[in-house]
Amino acid sequence: MSEYSAERLWLVVPAAGRGRRMGAGLPKQYLDLAGRPVLAHTLARLHQAFPAARLCLCLDPDDAHFDSAWVPFAQWRRSPGGAERVDSVRLALASIANEADDDDWVLVHDVARPCVRVDDLTRLHAALRQDPVGGLLATPVADTMKRDDGQGGVAHTEPRSGLWHAQTPQGFRYGLLCRALDEARMHGAAITDEASAVEALGLSPRLVPGRRDNIKITHPEDLALAGHILAAQREEPLSSPGHMHEETP
Ligand code: C5P
Repeated sequence: MSEYSAERLWLVVPAAGRGRRMGAGLPKQYLDLAGRPVLAHTLARLHQAFPAARLCLCLDPDDAHFDSAWVPFAQWRRSPGGAERVDSVRLALASIANEADDDDWVLVHDVARPCVRVDDLTRLHAALRQDPVGGLLATPVADTMKRDDGQGGVAHTEPRSGLWHAQTPQGFRYGLLCRALDEARMHGAAITDEASAVEALGLSPRLVPGRRDNIKITHPEDLALAGHILAAQREEPLSSPGHMHEETP
């Protein structure tokens, strides 16, 4: 029996975006990546890590591209997307209100991150279970960071020490996550990830170092990059060596 099966695990996958920044005819979750839609890759990775989890897939009610054959989970449901990502996630949480316990873990993972590694997923889940708050996969910032002056010039260089890129999944207990998103909405806060809503409650989500190849497909060039990453991951030995999360110069 796997380590996580003792308690219920819900996966929320927001996939109701239109992907306008991609400038493609299709929403990015349906673009072809190594012969399959992005969405199918992402769900396959999640299923490999958590085969017994229950999935909530947020889809635009008018979505004409979705095919349930891409869903490998035995227990799953479709929930309607909202105006923003945070609204889609909140609707998904509402759709399981009658079944989820406040203590159940919920991992939220963007459909646009198909390269997430199975061992990062299981490591994240194991780390969260030791944490009273929850947390997220993240990578330390490697580049030198510039703040612009609003006119295309550099205002100053931001110290990168202690800065992280937030990735997904982000995982929190069901009750806490609902409360955090509701409070954020009440205060009109702009929320682009679950962790920031939890931070606004005065709590400190755990940063779980992940791999840099867990990219989010956002711009057209990202699709080719994701293809290269998947190909490189296929070439790796099955038990990959420990991941790197040191800051690079
Ligand atoms: O557009 P962006 O890449 O920031 O979207 C992040 C994720 O949120 C994507 O997986 C997208 O499908 C999803 N999303 C959603 N509902 C929205 C907007 C975005 O489920 N209204």
